[in-house]
This record gives sequence, structure tokens and C-alpha cells, in this order.
Amino acid sequence: MSSHIQIFDTTLRDGEQTPGVSFSFDERLKIAKQLEAWGVDVIEAGFPASSTGSFNSVQAISEALTTTAVCGLARCHKKDIDAVYEATKNAQKPRIHVFIATSQIHLESKLKMTQQEVLASIKEHVTYAKQYFDVVQFSPEDATRTELPFLIEAIQTAVDAGATIINIPDTVGFSYPIEYGRIFKEVIEAVQTDQDITYSAHCHDDLGLAVANSMAAIENGATRIEGTLNGIGERAGNTALEEVALGLYVRQDHYKNTTQLRLSETKRTSDLISRFAGIRVPKNKAIVGQNAFSHESGIHQDGVLKNPETYEIMTPQLVGVEQNELPLGKLSGKHAFAEKLKSLGYDISSDEQVELFKQFKAIADKKKSVSDRDIHALIQGTEHEQNAMYRVETLQLQFVSEGLQSAVVVIKDNIGTVYQDSSIGTGSIVAIYNAVDRIFKRDSVLLDYRIDSVTEGRDAQAEVRVELNIENYNVTGIGIDHDILLASCKAYVEAHAKYSAAVLHSVEVGE
Ligand code: KIV
Ligand code: ZN
Repeated sequence: MSSHIQIFDTTLRDGEQTPGVSFSFDERLKIAKQLEAWGVDVIEAGFPASSTGSFNSVQAISEALTTTAVCGLARCHKKDIDAVYEATKNAQKPRIHVFIATSQIHLESKLKMTQQEVLASIKEHVTYAKQYFDVVQFSPEDATRTELPFLIEAIQTAVDAGATIINIPDTVGFSYPIEYGRIFKEVIEAVQTDQDITYSAHCHDDLGLAVANSMAAIENGATRIEGTLNGIGERAGNTALEEVALGLYVRQDHYKNTTQLRLSETKRTSDLISRFAGIRVPKNKAIVGQNAFSHESGIHQDGVLKNPETYEIMTPQLVGVEQNELPLGKLSGKHAFAEKLKSLGYDISSDEQVELFKQFKAIADKKKSVSDRDIHALIQGTEHEQNAMYRVETLQLQFVSEGLQSAVVVIKDNIGTVYQDSSIGTGSIVAIYNAVDRIFKRDSVLLDYRIDSVTEGRDAQAEVRVELNIENYNVTGIGIDHDILLASCKAYVEAHAKYSAAVLHSVEVGE
């Protein structure tokens, strides 16, 4: 039995089901490595049978990780199980997660199967998976809307066939804490086995109860929590793992158990995922939001100055939020820059630092003080561009007449081919976006355009996030630059690049 509450991260599988989110191969690998640095027990790295893109990244993640278990998702289909086996066979700790729906509505409307057929399928496929894997996880999808006696029968069937991890998903975010907790209690009491079974909670946030439900599961015997960073995921998202982790840590008096996460890596992990997903963390988000450790009212500020514990139940340092940062400026030299990178936790080779230092100087020429957030944006933006399939080389804008603008955009792909086109539009952004659409020879619909400043001040860098619909597929992109128009162009090109990558690798999956 585990001595801690295990954390099963599904950011790369359920999290990637967030509308508009599609991680590139390199981003998936970087996220997996950061999740390992954070200390999660298991990473659900993808659904290998769903696309070659997913298969390849599960395989690469399996080969790259050294301590964390790598899991792949499979429906009750032999070809899905084979794909997980192939993709994870080089992992230090390969895992499989087999699922099938058990609720009546899913059986009748989606699977067109009877309960007996579902039980037979569980038996057949868990047994099949068990040939390849020591540890098999089984999930009865839509468990919380399944009649309890049939849920128990399905779980008993999976356990008898060799599953040692039972995940009970609240697939549609329908349950509430007392009910969800009771399901765990009753299932655990009813299932007969001489094996040690790990019970796992997997919640969706449709009613805003995912974290509360997960905590209720722990109170009733669950020893593993599934979720994602920042709570990203299908519809309203999944359980926000950082909230569960800190809930357990801060309230050890009640939960009597904690995770084995390195909590000081929490903020860095959240930032990385926010950036790659193209989803900004709301300022008031618990644990990782920008305001999570800010005190606005005079009474609170006075209290915190006298004793932080008056209004803080945890310190910002606990989760890796830096405060009292020492900003750099244009007179800062290579040494100070290298020290700053180190203090922010970046391990960057001296060769790479040369290029970064040049970019830092360019920012410092434009800004009086370069804050830690600027440095994070610089590094993440650079990593982003290095991994990008396409980079913006040049952007030229010209006023035409009567409010019309013309834009010339030049981009380069990662093998050095240069593409160029121009267009006009009723404003600068429209002209730029028309020119980019012409380069990619696609029509796209701009669903969302947001601009934020990376830091305070007029000289701040701009961070633009866009969401596009291209041929019925939603994709997001981010661009960071001092120049808003260039940042807008970079974001739009990135969204197109993500679409190209998704099309290249996707294979439709249906039940
Ligand atoms: O929410 C859900 O039911 C799932 C299953 C695949 C476990 O994500
Ligand atoms: Zn889910």
C-alpha cells in the first residue's frame, strides 16, 4: 500500500482535450519532464491508438522519464491495448489505463451494448492487458451515473481479471462531495479480493466541485487523485492537482496524509502548462493565480507585515512564487544574468545563454527594469520559438488609404524554407492575419484575441493569445514581443503551425 496520496497527472491526455489546446511533440516532452520534476507518481501521457502524434509522444516520454510511471489510455479494444504496450514498453514503469462506460445512458446511446456485454468486455480486455502489464488500471466511465450494484459488478469483474487500480470517474462532473465519497466507501466495502487495490478519483469540474469531490474521495478511502495542472481539461476541466496537493499539505491535521510532490516546483509547472496550452491562469485562481498571495486591504497588509500568518495559510515560497525579486537593468552584465537564470531554476548551457543574453539586452534597452516575469517570458518565448514549426522573420505594415492597411509577412519553417505574402485589411491586425492566411492557403475564423502585458508599466512586453477555428478545428497560439503587432502576428502563425501539426498527426477516433 502507498504511504502517500498518489498523484496521477492527465494534463497530456484529458488536459489536452481542452477545446483549442493541442500540445506539440516538444511541448509534451517538456511538460512530462517538468511533471517528473514536480514529482507526480504517474503521467498519463496520451491515448496512443488515437493518433500517430499521441503514439509518438507517449513513446518518447516513456524513453525520457526515469522515475515517473508512464501510462497510456486504451478503450476496451485489443488494438488500443497493443498500441499502449508498444508505446510504453521502454518506460521504466509502464502502465495502462483501460476504460469502458458503465452508465445506462452510455450503454444505450453510445456503446449499444447490454450490461452483460460490458462485463464480458471488461473481463476480456483487462485479462488481455494483464498479459503485458503488471499494473493495470480500470475505469468505469460515467461511474457516478451508473447504478451502484452494476458499478460494483463491473469493478469486481475488472479486479477478478487482474486490475489493481480502480479509478472511479465523475466523467460529467455530476456528483457532489457526500455522494462521491459514499460511492468510494460502498465500492471499497463491497469488492472482494485478496489483492491490494488502489482506489483513484477522477473528477470533472462541470459544477465547480472537482477538487471538493476529490477530497471527499480521499476521506473515504481513495489513495490516488487524477487531474491536471490549472484544472485544464474537457469542458469545465478536471481536478486542479495543485489545489489538491496544497489542500493535503496545509490541512495535514485533517487528511493525515500528503503527496510526494516537490511543492516548490508547483508555480513553474503551472506556468509552463499555461503557456503551452495558451490558457492564462485567472488572477484569482487558488495557489497559482497572480493574486493568490497579494494583500490589498490596508488591514490585511498591516497584519501581514506584523506576522504573515495573520492572513496567509501558506507562504508563496512554498509553491515557488518568487517575491522581493531583484530586477535586472541595462547595466547588468553576463554574470548577473547567469546568476538570475540560476536563481530562477533554469539550467541553460553557456552557448544558449549567449543568445539569450543578447535578447535580454534588447529588452533592457527598451525597459528600465527587467523583472523575473520578463525573464520567464523571454526564456519560455525563446523555447517556444525554437520548437516552432514556423517563425516570423519580418513584418512590414503600410498605411494604404481610407483606413486600409497593407501587411507583408515573411515566415520561415524549421527546415529553412521562406514563405512570404501580403494583403490589405481594414486595420493592421486584419491585414496581418489576411496575409498569414494566404501563406498557409487556409481560411480561418478568429474566435478570440487577447492581449496582456507581461509586467506592469508602459514599457512592458505584450503577450497576445489567439484562438482560431481552422476547418472545424480550434487551435490557440501565443506571441510575445515589445511590439503588439509583431506579438499578434507571432500568435496567429503559431496557431496555424499547431493546426498543421495536428492535421499531420491526427487520425479520427470513434467508439
Ligand atoms: O472522465 C473520464 O471518464 C475519463 C475516462 C477516460 C477515465 O477521462
Ligand atoms: Zn476525464
